[in-house]
Amino acid sequence: YKSMHRESVQNPKKFWGNMAKQELAWFQEPKKVLEWKVPFAKWFGGGRLNLSHNCLDRHLDGPRRHKAAIVFEGEPGDVRVLTYQQLHDEVCRFAHALKGEGVKKGDRVMIYLPMVPEAAIAMLACARIGAVHSVVFGGFSAEALKDRIHDCGAKLVITADGGYRRGQVVNLKKNVDAAVAASPDVRRVIVLKRTGTVEKLNEIDRWWHEITDHQSPDFPPEKLESEDPLFILYTSGSTGKPKGILHTTAGYLLGAHLTTKWVFDLKETDLFWCTADVGWVTGHSYTVYGALSNGATTLMYEGAPNQPEPDRFWRIIAKHRVSIFYTAPTAIRAFIRWGDQWVEKHDLSSLRLLGSVGEPINPEAWLWYHRVVGGGRCPIVDTWWQTETGSHLLTTLPGIHVMKPGLAGVPFFGADLAVVDEKGKPVKDGVQGKLVIRKPWPSMLRGVYGDPDRYQKQYWSEVPGAYFTGDGAKRDKDGYFRVIGRIDDVLNVSGHRLGTAEVESALVTHPAVAEAAVVGRPDDLKGQAVVAFVTLKTGQKAGNDLMAALREQVSKEIGPIAKPDQIRFAEALPKTRSGKIMRRLLKEIAAGGAVKGDVTTLEDLNVIASLQSSSSEEG
Ligand code: WT7
Repeated sequence: YKSMHRESVQNPKKFWGNMAKQELAWFQEPKKVLEWKVPFAKWFGGGRLNLSHNCLDRHLDGPRRHKAAIVFEGEPGDVRVLTYQQLHDEVCRFAHALKGEGVKKGDRVMIYLPMVPEAAIAMLACARIGAVHSVVFGGFSAEALKDRIHDCGAKLVITADGGYRRGQVVNLKKNVDAAVAASPDVRRVIVLKRTGTVEKLNEIDRWWHEITDHQSPDFPPEKLESEDPLFILYTSGSTGKPKGILHTTAGYLLGAHLTTKWVFDLKETDLFWCTADVGWVTGHSYTVYGALSNGATTLMYEGAPNQPEPDRFWRIIAKHRVSIFYTAPTAIRAFIRWGDQWVEKHDLSSLRLLGSVGEPINPEAWLWYHRVVGGGRCPIVDTWWQTETGSHLLTTLPGIHVMKPGLAGVPFFGADLAVVDEKGKPVKDGVQGKLVIRKPWPSMLRGVYGDPDRYQKQYWSEVPGAYFTGDGAKRDKDGYFRVIGRIDDVLNVSGHRLGTAEVESALVTHPAVAEAAVVGRPDDLKGQAVVAFVTLKTGQKAGNDLMAALREQVSKEIGPIAKPDQIRFAEALPKTRSGKIMRRLLKEIAAGGAVKGDVTTLEDLNVIASLQSSSSEEG
């Protein structure tokens, strides 16, 4: 590892040039590995390839042809298996259908589907024709979907009549109808029949099966350039609305492919289960692209982990003989709470490797995961990365590195990570600082869709010459990184990223609200809980009804995942002389602690007293 990592960072062109040739299938091999004009990278110039060809066609010549590509289990218990040949055929049929609807290379296509095989099929079909997909998690509201449609200028939306979650039908179609009604540029909505809960379609809608089933199972993959856009995925930042993170074809695929192969030590016989929804980057890179590019079998499960009972995940692992299981610490902490007996009821002997992702994992949760789920025999990989990085950048490699509970691990190949101080100078080992990346890597974001300035400002201006991750970290003497968490105004709630600014702007859309400030509070289960401090317009009355209305408002503007856990009404918010809200103070108050440190820059010192005595109630 050490010599390979050194070589990959010292001579990235050689390392990545070799890897690209060795690991990917090209129609035309790249001529130039990297062009780098800070902060804009172009990888694998002159190369031509297709991601769906890499995930499908290249497996059809040998024994993988009839191997399961996707094993799907719906929440009601329905199971479907698609072999590589069958998945290829479905992707080609749907690619024809998309073409038939007028989708061309470079067009943006919105995907708002439950966790069903058609989500992967839709993504791969877009990749096959060179359309740019933007998947929106089904837990986001109609309003959030509309914002994303407008931001990327999508003309087509793919959805389902519904999906199953916690024993109920999630009415995705209703949200799409509302979003599309406010999006005049959308010309077509394709509707998958999943729940049978929609009987009549609108004029703009077509049933998935009606435009797909009769199509040819062959569709030659578009020969795309390495830097042709592949997808846009929206994620929260410290300011404003969510940003459309743009990833392109070759570099992204290489990152997803190689990390899946090496971090999960993938074998031909593995059944790989990454529990992330395809609406998040983890679902993109690991459930779909990384797994399929490697010719593995990937498991997709539609529903909740405690439906019908808290052992659903263990039941699935035992039934399908899952060998690699990859989930989030927030889920692990919920399993601990539900009790070991739910795990111990099932034969989990098929498991050989476990993974964690999305937030720092506390050592207690790590040890429980290792002992109870892994039976003390499975290595755990704690993978740190971001929507922006496209693939893992910090991890241990199973069989190579010693694991340290609570520490993500060491930099993956090609990753030049450092912990630096305010001035951008590396700090000593053991000292906390900002986590930065000092060299480009193939699966890095290529920008914020439609806003090159924001890309530069958000990521490349905090620390000179380096990409700032937004995270704080410490490195130990062995070179292992402990990621502390976000140090910008981004929250991590149950592994989901939320911008405080986003929640604040949702709150102030309510007519009773004058000002809002949102902070995170440590939470045993969710990692962080959302606490909102709210001041009201004159004449408005604080109370339980308003509290409920405000939570509903956030749910409507963003989605249920953003609902504040606690709303505290206050007379005024503490601000500096320049008018900036003092979040440090609010965080301390939210965490229940006393206000410490220097408060002399407060505009109104009375504010602190008023906040600490403010009415509050748990939501
Ligand atoms: C943020 C990125 C890409 C994974 C899914 C979340 C936090 C992610 C870890 C980890 C500590 C982690 C960071 C990061 N994070 N993985 N293993 N240990 N923190 O992707 O929504 O883009 O969020 O998640 O704070 O910046 P995301």
